[in-house]
Amino acid sequence: MLERTGAAGQKPLRVVVMVSGGGTNLQAIIDSVKDGTITNTKIVGVISNNKNAYALKRAEENGIPSMCVSPKEFETRDIFNEKLLEAVDSYEPDLVVLAGFLVVIPPEMIKKYENRMINIHPSLIPSFCGKGYYGLKVHEAALARGVKVVGATVHFVDEGTDTGPIILQKAVEVQQEDTPEVLQHRVMEQAEWKILPRAIDLIANGKVQVADHKTTILP
Ligand code: GRF
Repeated sequence: MLERTGAAGQKPLRVVVMVSGGGTNLQAIIDSVKDGTITNTKIVGVISNNKNAYALKRAEENGIPSMCVSPKEFETRDIFNEKLLEAVDSYEPDLVVLAGFLVVIPPEMIKKYENRMINIHPSLIPSFCGKGYYGLKVHEAALARGVKVVGATVHFVDEGTDTGPIILQKAVEVQQEDTPEVLQHRVMEQAEWKILPRAIDLIANGKVQVADHKTTILP
């Protein structure tokens, strides 16, 4: 468990954000640190598996160190896994945030960052999650099932896919005329960009406890 007292004057939480694409969640975190919605926090690095990710531009524009570690650059998956962990470790993070990171996290990294790595998933877990549910597929499945409420979840990362302790969830209503793209954007705007920064702020201020695979949010 990440021990933080939340006392004033403590060292800021060192956060590494891992991305693969557009980086709108990264942007929400950057903006929240800037406007004080997230306190006691410093984004110390951004890691992408994709050198063309727009998220890397966002990091650069905001003076945040970044690097790309792509599986394509290495002969085997094991070597990539090792390099990815080395890259994360090099920033000495207190918290790793997966913000649209589309690579399977190596088991060694999951173990090392137990209860110190969080993920944003664009559904209300345990609906529409697990293997194969990522990106637009999540929203296509929700519309195909005809659910009336969707949403997003921030959770700690464990060995399973989207199975770790849930930190925050937020619901979003489906509209009659929604397409997967429209729904995806509403879920981001109304849920993801709010609960991911909020979860980081709670962790940075020592307000999240984990026991028995569940979290408690302290007042
Ligand atoms: C988000 O929908 C996130 O929930 C999912 O991937 C998407 C990333 O979007 N895991 P962005 O790169 O933050 O814009």
